[in-house]
Amino acid sequence: MQDFVFNGQPSRVVFGVGSLKHLEREIEAMGAKRALVLSTPEQSSQARHIADLLGSRAAGIFSKAVMHVPIETAREAREVAAKLGADCAVAVGGGSTTGLGKAIALESGLPILAIPTTYAGSEMTPIYGITEAGLKKTGRDPRVLPRTVIYDPLLSLSLPVGLSVTSAINAIAHAAEGLYAQDRNPITDLMAQEGIAALARAIPGICKQPGDVDARSDALYGAWLCGSVLGNVGMALHHKLCHTLGGSFNLPHAEVHTVVLPHAMAFNAEAAPLAMQKIAAALNRPDAAAGLFDLAADNGAPTALRDIGMRQEDLDKAADIAVSNPYWNPRPFGKEQRNLIRELLQRAFEGSRPN
Ligand SMILES: NC(=O)c1ccc[n+]([C@@H]2O[C@H](COP(=O)([O-])OP(=O)(O)OC[C@H]3O[C@@H](n4cnc5c(N)ncnc54)[C@H](O)[C@@H]3O)[C@@H](O)[C@H]2O)c1
Repeated sequence: MQDFVFNGQPSRVVFGVGSLKHLEREIEAMGAKRALVLSTPEQSSQARHIADLLGSRAAGIFSKAVMHVPIETAREAREVAAKLGADCAVAVGGGSTTGLGKAIALESGLPILAIPTTYAGSEMTPIYGITEAGLKKTGRDPRVLPRTVIYDPLLSLSLPVGLSVTSAINAIAHAAEGLYAQDRNPITDLMAQEGIAALARAIPGICKQPGDVDARSDALYGAWLCGSVLGNVGMALHHKLCHTLGGSFNLPHAEVHTVVLPHAMAFNAEAAPLAMQKIAAALNRPDAAAGLFDLAADNGAPTALRDIGMRQEDLDKAADIAVSNPYWNPRPFGKEQRNLIRELLQRAFEGSRPN
């Protein structure tokens, strides 16, 4: 067995159908008395419901979370939290809302209780991102890791089917890259395989019946595992490409992950054969890259960048940005491999099935 280092993340996870009923108990266990509830404008009624459950422990609601955490929104939320005398934040929603909670915690140290309603996995990581003057800065800080996470599959029932599928494949992407990460370990490998299997099982079930609580539970369980992998080990080519396409060309987060993942896996297949075997086995399909493409295609998700807002004339620029400051990857992708990355992006643009 290879030597390894495992850093357990100090968060408490409460999982189960109907587990939102433990909210008050969990806020009390955190030692908090005045919670600021965070959400996007679209989920303000869910935030209201949470505030009602909190009763006198609710300090107020801030429902202006948006994608990529603009610094202006973060500042406003911090001011509101201070003005209301909040001693914790409850983030109900996807990665955008959790991200806003993290931005508040980064400066104030306010503890966060996260209630995830997508499969993005941000709640299990100490990674934050804040966008200033069009540039998204990311970093790691233990203060932003949510203190407690309540996973209640009932809250994900309203996630539209299309976003459910792409969000689930976004989660799979964390685990897939975790399986060839330089700093992976036997525990993250187990979490990654189990997470991919749970999500791959859940996706067709959710498509068939969006209200299927068992499928929703499998998906949220998989999201927890894959988010934990993301929080524990480094990411590589796939995440670099998605940050480039999402950040510089404003493509939607979960959809970009869904389209790019099969092509990133095909690029890395020969350099990371063991990881590919594990991904394929977890998917219960013969090949990792083609299996991920089919998982998306079979369940109505986008498979081509051109269908999610990318322009052919921007592919050169995207390749240049991606190779200018590469992450570690099992197969190098620096400036010398620029043409290979440009070809990968072309295949992703057209939505060709890897073989
Ligand atoms: N820091 C990290 O570790 C990390 C990890 C993953 C993602 N992220 C970040 O998270 C963001 C993406 O998060 P996301 O994909 O979860 O999307 P999101 O949080 O932006 O949500 C997308 C939309 O779906 C709505 N929504 C969420 N759950 C719903 C539900 N159950 N019912 C109805 N509508 C619902 C939201 O209100 C929003 O309008 C990106 O900015 C990404 O960079 C960060």
